[in-house]
Amino acid sequence: MSGKFKRYTITSALPYANGPIHIGHLAGVYVPADIYARYLRMKGEDVLFIGGSDEHGVPITIKARKEGVSPQDIVDRYHGIIKRSFEDFGISFDVYSRTSAPIHHETASDFFEKLYEGGKFIVKTNEQYFDEENHQFLADRYITGTCPHCGFEKAYGDQCENCGTSLSPMELIGPKSALSGNVPVLKETKHWYLPLGQYEKWLTEWILKGHKEDWKPNVYGQVKSWVDQGLKARAVTRDLDWGVRVPVDDADGKVLYVWFDAPIGYISASKEWAQKTGNDWEKYWKDEESKLVHFIGKDNIVFHCIIFPVMLKAEGSYIMPDNVPANEFLNLENDKISTSRNWAVWLHEYMEDFPGKQDVLRYVLTANAPETKDNDFTWKDFQARNNNELLAIFGNFVNRTLVLTQKYFDGIVPDADTFDEEAKTVFEEMAAFPQKISSSIERYRFREALSELMNLARLGNKYLTDKEPWKVFKTNPDKVKEILNVSLQIVANLSVISVPFLPFTARKLQDMINLKGLKWADAGRSNLLKAGRQINKVEFLFEKIEDKAMEEQVRKLLDTKKENEKNVAAKESIKFDDFMKMDIRTGTILEAEKVEKTKKLLKLKIDTGIDQRTVVSGIAEYYEAADIIGKKVCVLVNLAPRKLRGIESQGMILMAEDTDGKLCFVSPSEDVANGSKVK
Ligand code: 2FM
Ligand code: ZN
Repeated sequence: MSGKFKRYTITSALPYANGPIHIGHLAGVYVPADIYARYLRMKGEDVLFIGGSDEHGVPITIKARKEGVSPQDIVDRYHGIIKRSFEDFGISFDVYSRTSAPIHHETASDFFEKLYEGGKFIVKTNEQYFDEENHQFLADRYITGTCPHCGFEKAYGDQCENCGTSLSPMELIGPKSALSGNVPVLKETKHWYLPLGQYEKWLTEWILKGHKEDWKPNVYGQVKSWVDQGLKARAVTRDLDWGVRVPVDDADGKVLYVWFDAPIGYISASKEWAQKTGNDWEKYWKDEESKLVHFIGKDNIVFHCIIFPVMLKAEGSYIMPDNVPANEFLNLENDKISTSRNWAVWLHEYMEDFPGKQDVLRYVLTANAPETKDNDFTWKDFQARNNNELLAIFGNFVNRTLVLTQKYFDGIVPDADTFDEEAKTVFEEMAAFPQKISSSIERYRFREALSELMNLARLGNKYLTDKEPWKVFKTNPDKVKEILNVSLQIVANLSVISVPFLPFTARKLQDMINLKGLKWADAGRSNLLKAGRQINKVEFLFEKIEDKAMEEQVRKLLDTKKENEKNVAAKESIKFDDFMKMDIRTGTILEAEKVEKTKKLLKLKIDTGIDQRTVVSGIAEYYEAADIIGKKVCVLVNLAPRKLRGIESQGMILMAEDTDGKLCFVSPSEDVANGSKVK
């Protein structure tokens, strides 16, 4: 790899500044990007690692409106929190900028203008919803209505959060403006579109033919499916008053679409960096000998692999990304991470709960990174990886080696006259690690790279345990010099190779062994710690994480779950007449049997007081057929019959369902005659 490129331009998705960041962000984008950047710097490569906050877009304006503050207030608040979290976790950006900065407005505006003047856009006029009271066109999120697919009454103009379907505002039934609550009117508006279709052939050559082998299958697959479906023109402007103004005449009240301006944010950030450091930003973006790599999550693939490249191509003077190693998603305790449901481990809270343990989280998130599929973060796994891997292998090996060196040799690296066969084998094996790890990192396989780092610690741990210097010392102290010299060389190697993954630990370890400024090329050598060097005070690298700390975290999540359940809104109100349409009667279960080849269904015969009828009910996971015969129940008797697994079900039993989906009967509390009305 290195031979081909003179420098590296590494971008990491700009997080929206409308909330703090959580473990999903770190695992998906920033930790892998940081490992990559730190590794390349250690190799002496020229690296520009870019980050920044994405401060435009409708969700920010909605949040501001809800809180009665300006959008700028919102982004100022979260930009600060996010930036701080990145610093806390050692994400080593060369620049962390923001898209509300003047340099970004200027850069994005110039970029649009160049495309505009080059005739790269098409202009279209169409009808969009307009709120007459607020004199404003409505962004998709500002329109609510009934989902045509599932009937959910609070679907947004871009998506129904109940059934997950993507929508367009025109599909909503009974649309309403979220600003005024009024019914919006349709009004003509003009927008600028990027004709993506014109670039299909070029995209096919560049990505589909050119990157089949080196791009991740998930990324390649998404691009292919988009291109195969045919690319439509995409509007790059919006009717909104928060964002980068559209810099042409006749565009009042219009701003650039957030996904047009955000990736240009990488370029603006590079300019900001260049101004501050006196560097030239252009070579990082325009020289073919620069390698551009975008670190993103899977929801950003289309923007970074199709839309942004088309923008760059249309502009004409930029290089294309060499790779876009997008990750899948990280879940938390088997549930999707969600900002609105507060289902997340927030980095600023982690810092409070586990001060000084940033590397533990970096480690767990890398070891379990969602590189090829969605993965799950659990506190149990977090604890196990800390206690059984970082502490028991890495920490234990380093600690035993350093403590024994203090004990037997006053902390001075002992000289070894000879090395036995085992020592030589260990050195040989150790020498192979840097290359293995490089190869994994350069192919964006960070989990694999990290597991090799741990294998090096394992190698040391096993060597020390097998050699038992604490026993040998009594009879042959000279041999112990050799054993500890070998172990210390492994410790020194760990302190170098762990820098990209565990930067805080590496620093602490290098301080302890008095080693500084080593490069990746030094790794693998068996003489990193020269005899006679003084070791400093020994401290533990990792601590045991107790059950109690984990129980607290799990309790915190349970509290969130409970809070969310309380907040689940009641359904839309209905009229009394609607309720009275239901004929609910008390009845008794006379017979019950499992419906064959199903997990959930029981076929019941019920005496409803009116008749005896068959009802098929999905309760088999909670009740045995034999146990419910004679049970008093409530039955909706005028539900239209429907067939379930070929059996006609003539009604429905009322059940209460808790938030885990567990069912129990809703039964009359006293003995009443079958057929009594429930109202
Ligand atoms: O998905 C997101 O969080 C976006 N804010 C990412 C933007 S990446 C880049 F284009 F700026
Ligand atoms: Zn729906």
